[in-house]
Amino acid sequence: MKVLLLGANSQLGTDLVPALANHDLTVTARTPVALAKHIAFHQLDLQDTDAVRELVHAVGPDVIINTTAFHRVDDIEKDSGQALIMNARVPHFLALVSRETNSSLVHISTDYVFDGAQNTPYGEHDPVHPLSAYGASKAAGEFLIRASWHKHFIVRSTGLYGLAGASGKGGNFVNTMLKLAEAGKPIRVVADQVCTPTFTADLARQIVALIETSGYGTVHITNAGECSWKDFAVEIFAISHLNPDFGATTSAAFAAPARRPAYSVLANNATRVLGLAPMRSWRGALTEYLMLKAGLA
Ligand SMILES: NC(=O)c1ccc[n+]([C@@H]2O[C@H](COP(=O)([O-])OP(=O)(O)OC[C@H]3O[C@@H](n4cnc5c(N)ncnc54)[C@H](OP(=O)(O)O)[C@@H]3O)[C@@H](O)[C@H]2O)c1
Repeated sequence: MKVLLLGANSQLGTDLVPALANHDLTVTARTPVALAKHIAFHQLDLQDTDAVRELVHAVGPDVIINTTAFHRVDDIEKDSGQALIMNARVPHFLALVSRETNSSLVHISTDYVFDGAQNTPYGEHDPVHPLSAYGASKAAGEFLIRASWHKHFIVRSTGLYGLAGASGKGGNFVNTMLKLAEAGKPIRVVADQVCTPTFTADLARQIVALIETSGYGTVHITNAGECSWKDFAVEIFAISHLNPDFGATTSAAFAAPARRPAYSVLANNATRVLGLAPMRSWRGALTEYLMLKAGLA
């Protein structure tokens, strides 16, 4: 399959490149990326609509995968301008261009489209009700894609971490915990937000399996199980044999500018119906991530 990957240097994009090794791959990023010679690279700002249209028509991909976003969740609460462009206008334009070239479009969305009032996992068809400006911008992107082009996979995931670290957020939660522990700083983590932290290498492999199907629509993909961010941190320290000054806190005490869902576990119903292999547990994925980081795997 001819695949055009947008955002090859994102945390997820970095893991999609090797996962797509058996496909005819063209990738883009805003800045140059080190890649194997056989992979075609184009430097591209996705806000340059003429350049995006020209490239998509020139490549003629079967599938376009968009991993780009503006997702500094707390900053967006004060100014949603860039978020609305990157998370709504750009995905809308990509859907329109995908329609012109009859390409399917994979777009990555988030658990933050939900309000977290449920205490059982959210299904793909549960109504969205974002609490934050970031969640609203991602929900708008989902809506505009659905309204524009039926050959889409809107892939929602949660709490991503990968070896590259999120370029848009300056790292990821696991790396932040390790750095704070190594610096001997006191660490307090919220115990009242529950989701499923997901390893981008696992998400990337499942996306590659998904594009082989025609199960278009909204698709939840996360590692299996659930935990609070506090429990996730406890596991990071246990696996890493670290014993920092650590304790739980609450979202109210933490007082971040953006509200986050208290419970945003996503039921992976669509992939089960499509017959894709179930994702492994978040603990198993975290263990492998930490081993890879330490050069032990
Ligand atoms: N991280 C999470 O916890 C999480 C959770 C759920 C869902 N998601 C979603 O998953 C997706 C991937 O997340 P991630 O953590 O892998 O992201 P990431 O590492 O922060 O990467 C974001 C990407 O967007 C690119 N980008 C921003 N503006 C651009 C523009 N104008 N033109 C071209 N590229 C642009 C960035 O390029 P530069 O490096 O050049 O800025 C970067 O490659 C996103 O859609 C995100 O909303 C993330």
